[in-house]
Amino acid sequence: MNIEILNNTNKDLDVSIEIKLITNDELKSNKQKKSLKQLGFTAKEDSICILNDKKILFCGIEKYSKDNIRSAIASAIKKLQTTNYKTTKILLNDKKYISSVVEGFILGGYTYENYKTKKTKKSLRNISLIYLQDDFKTAIQLFTNAVTIADSTCYTRDLVNTTPEDLNPVIFTKLAKQLAKENSLECTILNEKSLKKENCYAMLAVGRASRHESQLIHLSYKPKNAKKIISLIGKGLTYDSGGLSLKPATSMVTMKMDKAGACAVLGIIKAISELQLDIEVHAFVGAVENMIGGDAYKPDDVLRSRKGDTIEVRNTDAEGRLVLADVLDYAQDKVNADYIFDFATLTGACMVAVGQYTTGLMGHSTKLKHAFMMKAASDSGELIAHLPFNKHLKKQLKSEIADICNISNKPYGGAITAGLFLDNFIKEKNKDKWIHFDIAGSAYTESPWDVNGYGGTGAGVRFMSSFLMDLNK
Ligand code: BES
Ligand code: ZN
Ligand code: ZN
Repeated sequence: MNIEILNNTNKDLDVSIEIKLITNDELKSNKQKKSLKQLGFTAKEDSICILNDKKILFCGIEKYSKDNIRSAIASAIKKLQTTNYKTTKILLNDKKYISSVVEGFILGGYTYENYKTKKTKKSLRNISLIYLQDDFKTAIQLFTNAVTIADSTCYTRDLVNTTPEDLNPVIFTKLAKQLAKENSLECTILNEKSLKKENCYAMLAVGRASRHESQLIHLSYKPKNAKKIISLIGKGLTYDSGGLSLKPATSMVTMKMDKAGACAVLGIIKAISELQLDIEVHAFVGAVENMIGGDAYKPDDVLRSRKGDTIEVRNTDAEGRLVLADVLDYAQDKVNADYIFDFATLTGACMVAVGQYTTGLMGHSTKLKHAFMMKAASDSGELIAHLPFNKHLKKQLKSEIADICNISNKPYGGAITAGLFLDNFIKEKNKDKWIHFDIAGSAYTESPWDVNGYGGTGAGVRFMSSFLMDLNK
């Protein structure tokens, strides 16, 4: 499907249907109000009515806002994909809505059918955004950036949706190398032999029962005059069975998505390198499979992390933090970054705390946390909620036999205690540079919402790209 922006209406004749957003108030004075009323259309949020004779698709909207427009366009494109219309257009009067419209079309129109032998027939070939106001140059820029970020979000979704057999840790390195080649990134891979040399014994323990070798992937985008250096760290559990603390059957289904943090990190570096921002970005991925078997790590084991701290394992299903402990430590030694952001489907507790649509944000710097909260509230289209650290919860990670325990000794505040476990591996000088994003709920959905269909959502790609674009200004 092609999407374009035009500053003329010459192509009008070719366009088979026009999309019009309409509020309840606007409906009252619309030329087509009689026909629309006849069809029971009331301009309710995201409701659709097609007038075939007029070649117009009306989509209801409560009021004009980025969030409402994005989700209305997503409803419109989903509907159009079930019809035989080949081309569509929408008239845009305000450039501040260009990115929402692009996101609505690309993210709302996304489907994943790799494993279907019979693909759904989609007739829609071309979408034209018509922008007739001045400053078309800026409009083109906004449009191109939005397309790049939305496409990278879909790239992340594709990776998340790939099955654990088709995307195991070794295949992860292949895909990372491919991205590195296509986007001229530097790429370093650490296999198990190199991970041993690096003393990444926490990470290695998690992957020991898997038949696929664990991998630490480091991609970097290094523009000439970088204004800032960013390290991104992603949890890449290509499958999380829970290990010997085995997950119940129903909780194990969907655990191919436990690599979503790693997939987001690749999506972000893809976007930033294509946007050619003057920001150096490093993506670190811990690609590991958490399985069972005679070689599996066990509850009661004590692991020595790369940092040197010992970790008492009381639950092998709290594996993501063990992998991240080593990858965070490695990343901090390799790159002296201005900001360190980790993305992880870390805890079910985060979904309990903030709901399944929202990313949980944790860290020490009020200023940095505020920046992301503002971003989420304003324009990124992703939901973020702050979960506050405190010293009392930190005590719950105390171990009687090792330096720290991999689970809390109390059943409450699980998302925060997981964040505090990671905090233990953040160097003192980096405390205010680091933010942890728990995307356990937001990264994957089995019931469509907003611009997200079934499966991976690409959580993290949009808000982080938007944050880095602001940093580039
Ligand atoms: N990958 C899971 C977290 C998760 C759960 C992500 C549901 C998405 C949906 C993680 O490794 C895990 O199993 N965490 C445990 C931690 C517990 C053992 C302290 C959890 O959340 O139950
Ligand atoms: Zn787990
Ligand atoms: Zn996990």
